[in-house]
Amino acid sequence: MNRKEAEKRAARLRSVINEYDHLYYVENTPAVSDAEYDRLRRELENLEERFPSLAAPDSPTRRVGAPPRSELPPAEHLRRMLSLDSTTSADQVREFDSRVRELSGDDQVNYTAEPKFDGLSVELLYQDGILARGATRGDSRTGEDITPNIKTVPSVPLKMRKDPPPGVITIRGEALMLLEDFHRLNGLMTERGGQAFANPRNAAAGSLRQLDSRITAERVLTLYAYEIMYMEGSAPATHTEELELLKAWGFLVYPDIPLCHSIEDAIDYHRALAEKRDNLPFEIDGIVIRTDSRELAESLGARSRSPRWAIALKFEPRREVTTVDSIVVQVGRTGKLTPVALLKPVDVGGVTVSRATLHNAGEVARKDIRSGDRVRIERAGDVIPAVVERIETDSRRGSPFRMPDSCPVCGSPVVEEGAYHFCPAGLSCPAQLKGGLIHFASRGGMDIDHLGEKTVESMVEAGILKGIPDIYRLSKKEILELERFAEKSADNLLAAIEESKQPELGSFIYALGIRNVGEHLAQLLAEEFGSIQALEETTREHLLKVKEIGPESADSITSFFSSERNRKTIRELLELGVSPRTPQDSGSGRLDGMKFVFTGSLEGLTRREAKERVLAMGGDVTSSVSTRTDYVVAGSSPGSKLHRAEELGIRILNEEEFVEMTGSGPQSLSV
Ligand code: IVH
Repeated sequence: MNRKEAEKRAARLRSVINEYDHLYYVENTPAVSDAEYDRLRRELENLEERFPSLAAPDSPTRRVGAPPRSELPPAEHLRRMLSLDSTTSADQVREFDSRVRELSGDDQVNYTAEPKFDGLSVELLYQDGILARGATRGDSRTGEDITPNIKTVPSVPLKMRKDPPPGVITIRGEALMLLEDFHRLNGLMTERGGQAFANPRNAAAGSLRQLDSRITAERVLTLYAYEIMYMEGSAPATHTEELELLKAWGFLVYPDIPLCHSIEDAIDYHRALAEKRDNLPFEIDGIVIRTDSRELAESLGARSRSPRWAIALKFEPRREVTTVDSIVVQVGRTGKLTPVALLKPVDVGGVTVSRATLHNAGEVARKDIRSGDRVRIERAGDVIPAVVERIETDSRRGSPFRMPDSCPVCGSPVVEEGAYHFCPAGLSCPAQLKGGLIHFASRGGMDIDHLGEKTVESMVEAGILKGIPDIYRLSKKEILELERFAEKSADNLLAAIEESKQPELGSFIYALGIRNVGEHLAQLLAEEFGSIQALEETTREHLLKVKEIGPESADSITSFFSSERNRKTIRELLELGVSPRTPQDSGSGRLDGMKFVFTGSLEGLTRREAKERVLAMGGDVTSSVSTRTDYVVAGSSPGSKLHRAEELGIRILNEEEFVEMTGSGPQSLSV
């Protein structure tokens, strides 16, 4: 290939990969398999390596991070980055509204209401549509230049998608870490014996302000755009149009930002969002209410720090101070021993908290937490709260915490591995059996409805579940003997168990609960090996050749399959009729991992046919709507699921759109 051809090919690859990134990270609708995506990326990397002069600033290969810098250089903002007035009182918001109406001379003013993201404010500067600079807010006039770091954030377009782009434009948005990514990162940090981040905001800030952007690249951040701060030419007349334009340019914009015809509508939005708060995939700390009209905003102007046209109505904080009653040790499904602080119950943003995790013995020692201490705790999303720090007081303190020598549940001698302590008894330890069963039946695993924590616990205690395969041996009679079950609920459970028998191979591998194998890695293993038998027989050498599998995961995988007990579990599951579907069975995989929910009646297709289409393309169908649902397909007379989907901002398809999406078979961009 000569240089000219290479140039043409590289340009094509860049634009296709950027488009796939946009579909994946912004639209949430992946269009190709991971393998195909990787192949294109490798091709581009090779070309850019052979012809270094081809590397363009908007090349997706630039997302991987640049060599470390000695400091973050200053970046002067084109416009001041103001802050917001904030309150927790609805009445103060009503006063804000009175002021706005008085100053504007209008009786009625339109507002918009949107989440106040709990992240870091970022300014993005585009020149001729190409991302030229990213900066933190700093002192509002001058921030820090974080260009190489911001380029690693996949939801930030390297190139704006609209032609012709304005010459110079600055966009404001909030960089944050999704809760899922935050928990993964903290798991990694503590696993390596490092310190956990207190909350997603600190984790995002720590990642963005890294001098070495290769570290930022390892930590997935997300950016929601919400404002055009400056642009050449005329800016949109309303905030609503501004958001639409940002979306059209390829930015990620929160999908549910209503136009409010009165301040009471905005206050209602605050109430509704407070209820949704625990189900959102990221942290928010309130809502932002702003006048919709740009002209009105400009005429209202700003005070020294904050504009007169906007106000934040915050939620109750999620940090609270309480006292540690004692520290106990909990045994998880992998046998990991986790110290947990039992607390004097305290209300943290509407939820009563009485326990908080301390991660591992090292963290307890570092924070020096003992019974009797006053501590600050924090709750992020719908998960176990964490102890952030100890507050110095002169109260009486207990003695320092020590990890027990034997498992508090089954008494086996504890073993130490890196920063953690483990009970080595496996499924013969009741705590690990319960944890293993709950994990097996969970959403990302076999997805067995009605087999949740409480049910598993009562079944283990009743002795009807002694191992994982016992799930498929349960009889109606046994189930009915449990207190929590009646005729109908027993039938529902049995039907759900039956329905779980054809999982995707990746879900099945994940369900097995192999240490260090999360949903993503399980999916990669399924793609690489294609069957559970092939995976069972693989070698450490082969595993290490698979991208993203390091020595630690390779060791966990080989050690899992070398256990006779685990091999027997798998054999029994297969004999009992569990039959994992291989990725090849799953057609094009264009809907890989996508979760669909159907509501209402379809006309041209039966539910069954519709479900088969989804499964054939690698997607999944579940019965209830949650934040993990990707699409809700609404037929005629839809039920409450539609309402729930709207609340959660999930994409809704009508039958026609669904048929279009699944009917034409595999589809990808031509390269
Ligand atoms: S509008 C002139 N919208 O909240 C102010 N800010 O306390 C323009 N924030 O520093 C800001 N989500 O970083 C706006 N949807 C949103 C926001 C938002 C989070 C942050 C922003 C600002 C802080 C003010």
